[in-house]
Parts: sequence; C-alpha cells; structure tokens
Amino acid sequence: MKVIICGNYSELSIKAADIMEKLIRAKPAIVLGLATGSTPLGLYKELIKRNKEGIISFKKCRSFNLDEYVGLSSGDAQSYRYFMEKNLFDHIDIEKSNTFVPDGQASDIDAYCRWYEQKIQKAGGIDIQVLGLGGDGHIAFNEPGSAFDSRTRVQKLAPQTIEDNSRFFNSMDDVPRLAITMGIGTIMEARKILLLVSGAKKSLIVKKCLEAPVSEKYPASIIQKHPDAVVVLDREAASLLGGK
Ligand code: GLP
Repeated sequence: MKVIICGNYSELSIKAADIMEKLIRAKPAIVLGLATGSTPLGLYKELIKRNKEGIISFKKCRSFNLDEYVGLSSGDAQSYRYFMEKNLFDHIDIEKSNTFVPDGQASDIDAYCRWYEQKIQKAGGIDIQVLGLGGDGHIAFNEPGSAFDSRTRVQKLAPQTIEDNSRFFNSMDDVPRLAITMGIGTIMEARKILLLVSGAKKSLIVKKCLEAPVSEKYPASIIQKHPDAVVVLDREAASLLGGK
C-alpha cells in the first residue's frame, strides 16, 4: 500500500487525476471502477478538464460504479446514477451504454447482483477502482462487519451512514435504508485501488483503517493487503497518521 499525502484537496484531486490519466492513456479500453460521494468530485472535474483538452479520451472505456440506493430510479436526483451523469458522464466522451451503475429498482435484486458481477468479469475485470471512505470505515456500502469475501449484494445501511448521507436528502427519513453494493471481494479483485480521503473529520477513521490491524470492524483496512493500492490523502485526513 502506497500512501501519498497532499497539501490540500485540490492537490489531492490533481494527484488522483494524474494516476488515472496515466492508466487511461496506456489502455484506452480501460475498465474503470467509479465511486460517488463528495470526495471524488475534484477528481471528476480534473478528468472532465483533461478530456475537453484532448489529453484523455473515454470513448473506448467502460465503467462500473460501486453502489446505488435501493428503490431510487435513475432519474431521481439523489440516485447515484444521476450523480454520475451530472458530475462526470454528461461532460466526457464516454458512451453512456458503457457505463454501469447498479439498478436500484431491479425487480429481482439477487439475480441482478449476480448479473452485475458477471458483467464485470466479462469486461475483463476492473483495472482501477476509485474509492472514498465512509465515516465508519465503509468502502462502497460495505458496512463494518461485512465479510472480506463478500460479493455484490444488498446491504443494510448503518445508522452513522444514514446520518452522514442525510445531508443530500431533505430529512433523515428520506435516506433509503438499503443499497446495492459491490462486495469487498469484488473490490479487492480490481487490479489497482485508488482510495481518496479528505478532511480532518476522517483523520481518526483513516488512522484506524491504515494503521490498525486488518479487521472486518474497519472494512477499508483490507486495502492494506491489496497488491497495488494507492491511498491519496490531504494533510488534514493524514493528520493522525504515524503515531500522531
Ligand atoms: C457513501 C458512498 C461511499 C463513499 C462515502 C463517503 O456512503 N457509498 O462510496 O465513499 O459515501 O462519501 P464522502 O466522500 O462524501 O465523504
């Protein structure tokens, strides 16, 4: 695991974009694993800029998102499909038919989750998986206690996640209680992992996930065992690392 500490959020976003640019230029038909949340927004802005400047193209690439709320339609402004369209897909040259976000309205969710896993396999697996970090150490929506070999499935959201994510909804009651999420086993199969964390609020959970022993109590701690994981932090998120 490689840890890169940047001065601030803007530097973090540029560093993450540099890592992705290198891979996309080397393999135009790359399979991207994408994340939602506030943290990758700066990275997506950078990727849009570099796409518009002709530095990178997404024409041949495919993308798979980590998760989606159960029950929300793709047109719902709180859905992760909507988030991806507005914050990335609408602004780059990717073919929309090559972008996959779990379908929160699938009628047979278990069958759908199996299909999503197969779709990733058939695409040749994920080359680079972007991750954010939940306040309780979750990655995608794999809450504490999720098995390290878990696959794409429905996950009940932890109370802290419901509270953290309520900022995007009118009230806590509006936050869906269930989500479809790639499993930790699914995520760990990505050839490269790029975990981004910003802000002092996450400094303690960053320390627990990166420095404490690997444990299902802190889902992101499994990244310590990935053969090619890069963690990009800003100074605030890294402030408790290294015995501090
Ligand atoms: C949600 C997403 C996660 C994301 C997390 C942190 O729970 N399912 O994939 O990493 O939020 O979000 P933020 O970057 O806004 O702190």
